[in-house]
Amino acid sequence: MEKEVPGSAGWTITGDRSLEFANSPLQFVEKKITQYDSHVFLARALNIPTVFVCSNKGVQHILSEKEDSFKMGYRDFGYIHNLFGDLLLFYDDAEATRVRKVISQLFDPLQCHHYIEQVNSIADAFLSNLDSGHPVQLYETFKRFATAVSCKLFLDLDWREDKLQFDTITSIATLHWHGLISVPLSIQITGWSSSFSKAMKAKNYLLEYIRKKLNSCSSNDAPRSFFTVAKEAGFKDEEEASHHILLFVSALIPKALASMLTSFCIATSGLDQECFREQMRASDDCIDDALLEVQRLWPPFLGGRRIAKEDVSIDGYKIPKDTTVAFITWFANRDPRVFAEADKFNPSRFQNGDKEHRNLVWTFGGGKRICVGYNLINKLLKTVCKKLLLKYDYQCNTGDNVSYKTLPVARPRQTVNMTFWSREVNKAS
Ligand code: HEM
Repeated sequence: MEKEVPGSAGWTITGDRSLEFANSPLQFVEKKITQYDSHVFLARALNIPTVFVCSNKGVQHILSEKEDSFKMGYRDFGYIHNLFGDLLLFYDDAEATRVRKVISQLFDPLQCHHYIEQVNSIADAFLSNLDSGHPVQLYETFKRFATAVSCKLFLDLDWREDKLQFDTITSIATLHWHGLISVPLSIQITGWSSSFSKAMKAKNYLLEYIRKKLNSCSSNDAPRSFFTVAKEAGFKDEEEASHHILLFVSALIPKALASMLTSFCIATSGLDQECFREQMRASDDCIDDALLEVQRLWPPFLGGRRIAKEDVSIDGYKIPKDTTVAFITWFANRDPRVFAEADKFNPSRFQNGDKEHRNLVWTFGGGKRICVGYNLINKLLKTVCKKLLLKYDYQCNTGDNVSYKTLPVARPRQTVNMTFWSREVNKAS
């Protein structure tokens, strides 16, 4: 017997909870879960009655088991469409299948191998001086590193070879990004139009840069450059290719990568994790488990959005056709009905009690619409974390008790400084 979703959508505008949610998403959701004693509840967000789904089972239904009952819900979400143009993220059905097929060519095993070689080279140069004697601002350092990686992989721009162009692109990508986040989603504020128009100019600059690269690449490149593959992958036209590449080089992806590298280092730092670091140095499977546990506990993106195409039952609740649904990955990944001691960092859970639950971590989405960069990101994170582990030992200034903010990406609320020591020095002394 299906239950009615508890909660209230309130009145138009006055009942809207967007600001409360945006100010403190975790507290907002936690309060509602407690209030209704339910991981699925109704509230008004972006002035639309929205069902929040925070249970692991509910997110599994939306992303995988009952995914055909939903369409993507991003086209009218804030200003994403204006700032990016047409993207896979906005498509459904046959169009989505077509574009996914095209984009997956950019991430086939051969291409990924080539990307990882580039990541290796950048990591060797960028992360070689973390032990310079001063604590390192962790998230900021990883953000610069991840920006260098995404510029190299997706713009063929190496910060070591053209620092000026790299700095220009980085600051323009930041302007583009500010257009997305400076606009409160439901209301306009002073200064909005100026950030927005700067962001649109930045978008045009980046698109122009990408088009030039697409036009100047040669099919005889060996190994084939990212732009050659993109040009020959089967996009409808140059316009479609350049909009998708714009997403890859947007500031969002380096931020998400930096988020995960930061969380990994914090969770595995300090004396109490010394043994575990040794285990990871000896076993790639152990690094995999640690990274999966990092994904589970600190997903860079809080969640996602869908719209029901038909009446559907989600985790036992009745969701009528046309309902907007927000799934909250952070809570689904920490659902105590699935993961024992769900808030605890415990990578060995994936070898023990939670062995069967490896596929119930929703950080990269799931089902047919799982992140197309998933395999690359997994390999990339493993490569970089392994390098850090083999080269350094590290200790965090805050201990492991770090509080997180989750928007726009999950990261420590306060600056976290990490001290790195070269392991070679330790061994010698
Ligand atoms: C740490 C990094 C990343 C995280 C956490 C992440 C997360 C996600 C998530 C959760 C989705 C699904 C959204 C939904 O179902 O509503 C998604 C989709 C997508 N991601 Fe990623 N992503 C990351 C990196 C990347 C990279 C590096 C690329 C490409 C260069 C990429 C390209 C995409 C695309 C194109 C989609 C849309 C797929 C579709 O709609 O079918 N992502 N990502």
